[in-house]
Amino acid sequence: MNTSSPVRLTISDLSKTYGTGSAANEVLRGITFDVHVGEFVCLVGPSGAGKTTLLRCLTRLMPSTTGQVLLDGEKLTGPSSKISIVFQEYTRSLMPWMTAEKNVALALTNRKLPRTEVRRLSREALASVGLAGSETKYPWQMSGGMQQRVAIARALITEPEVLVMDEPFASIDAQTRLELEDLTLELQRSRNMTVMLVTHDIDEAVYLSDRIVVLSKNPATVQEIVNVDLGAERDQFTTRESHRFGELRSHVLGLIRHSQEVAKAKVQQL
Ligand SMILES: Nc1ncnc2c1ncn2[C@@H]1O[C@H](COP(=O)(O)OP(=O)(O)OP(=O)(O)O)[C@@H](O)[C@H]1O
Ligand SMILES: [Mg+2]
Repeated sequence: MNTSSPVRLTISDLSKTYGTGSAANEVLRGITFDVHVGEFVCLVGPSGAGKTTLLRCLTRLMPSTTGQVLLDGEKLTGPSSKISIVFQEYTRSLMPWMTAEKNVALALTNRKLPRTEVRRLSREALASVGLAGSETKYPWQMSGGMQQRVAIARALITEPEVLVMDEPFASIDAQTRLELEDLTLELQRSRNMTVMLVTHDIDEAVYLSDRIVVLSKNPATVQEIVNVDLGAERDQFTTRESHRFGELRSHVLGLIRHSQEVAKAKVQQL
């Protein structure tokens, strides 16, 4: 991807304040950035900065206080079938009484497709995340990594233009995490999907991203948008060991540390 491809999402002046009066908590202020077709953008920022709030507002699961979001130039007024979301807590996002295949098929409920077609698409989606043969397993018969693959399959079955992921690999063991990162990159590249992913892990953000949006805290603003000039081909060994990778990691870490200190100083002034 390069930033000369068309703009898929335009996020302008997004603000969110929870509560009113003395209970008002301004979480987001003036968040503005574009995401291009086929671009992989990671959102990072201090803990509690408002990353999940931003994802909820920009997918219109929740209204923002000000600002607007355009998808392919059209104003988003509510959740769109062109956007799929994968949440962090796969244990809560899958139905324990449904098999992998049925969990994936849930995303097609509103499409009124023949049962055989739903079955075919569900199996295809599971195969695309490496779960062929696990169609009849229940969530409790699968590892955390497998459950998260089911959640990803469910997000992909509707062929979204945009895949939004909120710390999708946070509670997954290190080895599986690397596999899922590569799977996500592979799926994103092969479908030319636009991906927005929130992570706490700066190395993960640098490894996956074309650009990283670094948020500050109290309220969250866009502190910097870092261009990750590591090329399109990524490899868990060579990319992570490169000199440029280390430079980018240090730069992003420095930005987050700085905004943490600023946020702390603000709280102390209150
Ligand atoms: N539904 C809600 N109602 C009121 N306040 C909320 C709500 N959701 C989040 N907040 C507040 O908004 C702020 C940001 O929360 P949010 O979960 O968006 O941050 P985050 O960056 O995703 O945090 P984390 O790094 O822990 O995932 C917090 O102060 C939180 O208490
Ligand atoms: Mg969060």
